[in-house]
Amino acid sequence: MELLDGKKISNQIKEEITAEVVKMKERKEKVPHLAAVLVGSDGASMTYVNAKVKACEKIGFNSTLIELPEYTSEEELLEKINELNTNDDIDGFIVQLPLPDQIDEQKILMAIDTDKDVDGFHPTNVGKMALDLPTFLPATPYGIMELLERYQVETSGKNVVVLGRSHIVGRPMSILMSQKRKAGDATVTVVHSRSKDLKEITKRADIVVAAIGISEFLTGDMVKEDVVVIDVGITRVPDQTKKNGYRLAGDVDFESVSKKASFITPVPGGVGPMTIAMLLKNTLLARERHISKKK
Ligand code: GUN
Repeated sequence: MELLDGKKISNQIKEEITAEVVKMKERKEKVPHLAAVLVGSDGASMTYVNAKVKACEKIGFNSTLIELPEYTSEEELLEKINELNTNDDIDGFIVQLPLPDQIDEQKILMAIDTDKDVDGFHPTNVGKMALDLPTFLPATPYGIMELLERYQVETSGKNVVVLGRSHIVGRPMSILMSQKRKAGDATVTVVHSRSKDLKEITKRADIVVAAIGISEFLTGDMVKEDVVVIDVGITRVPDQTKKNGYRLAGDVDFESVSKKASFITPVPGGVGPMTIAMLLKNTLLARERHISKKK
C-alpha cells in the first residue's frame, strides 16, 4: 500500500505557483489577489477559510477575508458580491459553503462574475467543464485529478465508483473522470443514498472516490484487493482523549481499507491540502486572464 500524499504534492504545486509569483514580481506585475467570504461562524468552515487565506500569504498572493454575521440577509450578501465583482484589485473570490438557511445558495453562486469564480461553481463554468471547455475546475475534484496524475495512477478504462453526488465533489468528479483527459477515460458509476446493492458496486471498483459525508462509511469488506481509494470526507468525531475534544475522520475506515488498497489518501493530509493548492492555481489563472483581458 502506498499513501497518496496530498501534503507533499500540494507543496510541490505551491512551489510551482510561488515561482510564477516571483516572475510576476520581477516583471513588476501585481500579484494575484484572492478574497474569501465567510458567513457565520461554523467551526469547520472557519478552519477551511483561514487555511485558504494563510496559504495565499505563504506563497505571496494578496488575500482578503470578509467575515459576515450568521444573520446576514441574501440582499446584503449579493451587495458584497457585487462589490467584489466590480473591485478591479480582486482577481478571484470564493463564498464558503454551506450558507445559512435564509440565503439561496444558487442565487449567490449565479451572482459571481464567471471570470472571478475560482471555485468553478457558477452554472456557466460548470457547463463549460461538462463540455470540455477551458474553465475553473472545482478545487476538490481538480485536486484529486492532479493527485492521481502525479502518482501516475492508471485510470483509462478503469471502473471508478464515486460515492456521493454533491455539486462540490461527487458530480464534478464523475464528469472529469469520464472525460478524455489526463486521469480520465474511466467508466464511472455514481452511487448515492437511493442506490441499491452498494457493496456489489463498490466491490467491482478499481478506484473509489468516497465523498458521501458519513464518517468511516467505506469498510474493507466493500472493496477488492489493490483498489485505489480517495477519501474526501472530513468529519469531526467527538473524542475525549484529544485535547480539542474531537478527531478528524474520513469517509473511509482507513484501518480495514488500507490493508487491501494499492493506493489510499490519508485524512488529514490527503485531499484537503490538494483542494487549497488547486484554489491557488485557479487564482493564478484568474490573475493571468485578468491581465490579458486588459491588454
Ligand atoms: N465548502 C466545502 N468545500 C468548499 C469549497 O471547495 N469551496 C467553497 N466555497 N465552499 C466549500
